[in-house]
Amino acid sequence: MTWNEKHRPICFIDIKGQQLAVEKIKAFTKNFGLEKKAVILYGPPGTGKTTLAHVAALETNAEIFELNASDLRNKEKLENILKPAIQQKSLTKKKKIILIDEVDGLSVSDWGSISTLIYLISITTYPVIITANNIWGKKFADLRKKCELIQIKEIDYRTIKEILISILKKENLFISNDILTSIAIKVKGDVRAAINDLQTISNFKEVQPSFFDERNKEIDIFNALRLIFKNKATTELLNVFDSVNLSLDEILLWIEENIPAEYKGEELAKAYEYLSKADIFKGRIYKQQYWRFLVYENILLSYGIAAAKKSAKTGFTSYKKPERILKIWMHNQAHAKKKSIAQKYSKLVHVGEKRAMAEFSIIKQIVKSNSEIQKQLKLNEEELAYLNN
Ligand SMILES: Nc1ncnc2c1ncn2[C@@H]1O[C@H](COP(=O)(O)OP(=O)(O)OP(=O)(O)O)[C@@H](O)[C@H]1O
Ligand SMILES: [Mg+2]
Repeated sequence: MTWNEKHRPICFIDIKGQQLAVEKIKAFTKNFGLEKKAVILYGPPGTGKTTLAHVAALETNAEIFELNASDLRNKEKLENILKPAIQQKSLTKKKKIILIDEVDGLSVSDWGSISTLIYLISITTYPVIITANNIWGKKFADLRKKCELIQIKEIDYRTIKEILISILKKENLFISNDILTSIAIKVKGDVRAAINDLQTISNFKEVQPSFFDERNKEIDIFNALRLIFKNKATTELLNVFDSVNLSLDEILLWIEENIPAEYKGEELAKAYEYLSKADIFKGRIYKQQYWRFLVYENILLSYGIAAAKKSAKTGFTSYKKPERILKIWMHNQAHAKKKSIAQKYSKLVHVGEKRAMAEFSIIKQIVKSNSEIQKQLKLNEEELAYLNN
């Protein structure tokens, strides 16, 4: 089933951007018999004309009786089936709406069918809804007179975006805002085309990284995580962190925090394995200043984590800011103070800085309990606060 079929509106409120037309159709079915017996819904493709007719039937609990151009040409069928259907109240007394869809399929040479239609309208006991893209040809001049004309406008791109987002929610999928905007603009008011595009793009998840690269240089960490966690591993993923404004070490923390939200079981174990390898490289980078290991850290965090999954994932996951970033920051702050105190101490008592650091727990107690030494060390407020903590 296509998404257009699956997500076809079934209530008036589902039909977006056509409020005026909806009101007119409501009034038409409600007051049927008082004025004209047919309406023509006219407007560009994919804007809700056929849908509106079906919804009108659903909402008024009526059955829909659909006629097409060839039905109108078929004299025999017309006499034996259509005419009775259009004239008589059905036995169940069920309400009925007659839909003549895409009447502009009729050509000038079908003038006979057009006059048949006009005749049917004159004898119908049920509301007739006609749809067309273009109703302004001369051939429809007489028909126009018999009908109330209701314009169906093309849908503006914001409304189309809303429709797309509501479909994604129902499908439990995520597609970036940028892509949604570009689909919505490209289709020029045609909702059907927009929904088709959306469905196509949702099938090609691996298209996404390059999409992001072109449209949005500064992709944020959330998008990067989504690309890595949801997609199959592709070489494009190797560049995914280039446009994230965070260090690789911070990215590692983000991944660590959010892996369990996406991966389970075997996948989770594999992902943690890659993560710990990345962490080993990170350690070597710091200890030995092997900057070329950054490449490996990057590969493990992007391609590696993506490759840990068995198949691409769908659905929306909300990612969390890593708690460890806060803890590490606090730790770093503490470490910085410890270091500065040790430095001051080593100068004062002429011991090596390394030794002062190694024996810091003892030094800390000495300095803490001796305000005279604190003065000599010229400890600042923050350092004092650290000692007393
Ligand atoms: N106004 C709208 N609000 C919500 N969904 C819409 C709207 N218009 C169209 N759609 C979606 O697009 C699909 C196609 O719409 P529909 O068949 O009603 O278009 P149409 O106006 O009859 O086009 P055509 O002129 O090509 O027959 C619908 O199934 C529905 O999913
Ligand atoms: Mg239609």
